[in-house]
This record gives sequence, structure tokens and C-alpha cells, in this order.
Amino acid sequence: MNLFLDTADTAVLRTLAATGLVDGVTTNPSLIVKAGRAMREVIAEICGLVEGPVSAEVAAGDLEGMLAEGRALADIAPNVVVKLPMTKDGLIATRVLAEEGLQTNVTLCFSANQALLAAKAGAAYVSPFVGRLDDIGEDGMQLIHDIRAIYDNYAFDTEILAASMRTPDHVQAAAIAGADCATVPPAVFEALFKHPLTEQGLELFKADWTRTGQSIL
Ligand code: E4P
Repeated sequence: MNLFLDTADTAVLRTLAATGLVDGVTTNPSLIVKAGRAMREVIAEICGLVEGPVSAEVAAGDLEGMLAEGRALADIAPNVVVKLPMTKDGLIATRVLAEEGLQTNVTLCFSANQALLAAKAGAAYVSPFVGRLDDIGEDGMQLIHDIRAIYDNYAFDTEILAASMRTPDHVQAAAIAGADCATVPPAVFEALFKHPLTEQGLELFKADWTRTGQSIL
């Protein structure tokens, strides 16, 4: 499963990308406002930091606006993925941009039927928001299972990009459910490295090694 970072904070991205484990980046208008910088400038910088796909979201709600903004965003760098909303016009724009050879990511997906439509529209990625479904008392991860089953039934090649991942458990469950990618906030990415027994084991090994009085070099 590919791991994307859900951030528009280029300083944080630069540090985490150095691990070699960041396969791509997703952004949204809320993350752009948090970064406090011009969107085009931020997207261009992010595209220079990671080779993989970088989702940049349109702001317009109408078809013509989405097409114009989508093309402008795609012009920023070859690894830009145009992020479009899960609306009727958003899916028409997905179809048009896909036919022009652009990569698209249909966002704000909350049902398997929406994911089916996104795949039929030719989206490269669909983003089901797991955490936000959990927030309203639904089983967000079940949606990933359902989409996986539908896409496999009909051999759709749209990638399932599990989004709104709030915990490491979400990431693990998305991988088990067969998501192609998961996008995680930096704090969740950092948490993936950790387990209390790893820390504890390291402390013990360090103490024992000191007692040997040896040096490897
Ligand atoms: C995905 O593309 C979104 O940017 C993101 O995962 C939303 O997460 P949130 O529900 O935690 O805001």
C-alpha cells in the first residue's frame, strides 16, 4: 500500500520525505489555509519534494470552473493530481480531464455507489473519508471493504486512496481491507514507527550492550 502525507506544510514534508517512505501527498483547501501560503507556490514546492502523486483540489463548484482550475493546477508540475469533488459536475470534469490525460482524485466519497461512479468516470483515485464516517457513528472502514469488492468485481483500475485516517489502526485496517493507498497526517505517519515494546526492548538491549564493555567498530 502506498503511503501519502496529508499536508501542505512543506517543512514537515521535507523532514518526513527524507525517510524515503512518503509515496505522495494530498492537500485540500483546509490544509492550504493552514499553511498560510499561496496555493500554487505550495503545490509547486511539494511537487519538487516528492516524485509521487500530489493531489491539488479545485475550488470552483461549476463544471467550467473546475475544468479551468484543474488544467491550471495540472500545469504546475507533471505529478499534480487534480482533486475534484464527488458531485455530478465533479464527475463530468473527472471524465473530461481524464480524457485529456490528466490524473484525477475524486474526493469526499462517503458511499460505495459514489465510488462506483468515480471509477466509471475514469478517476485515477477515489478518496473515501473513513474518519468522517466514524465521526457520525458509521463504520468508515466497511466502506473501504465495500469499494474493494466492487472494484475487484469489475476490474476497475481506480485506486482506493483511504483518507481521513486519524490513527495508526486506521492505516492497518485500510491495508488489510486492500486500499491501494492511505493518506495520513504527519502525526499519524510518525506514530506508525512506534510501539511501546520497541522502545522498551531498545532500552534493555542498550543497557546489556553497555555491560559487555565492547565496541563494534
Ligand atoms: C484527504 O484527501 C483529505 O485531505 C483528508 O484525509 C481529510 O481528513 P480529515 O477528515 O481528518 O480532515
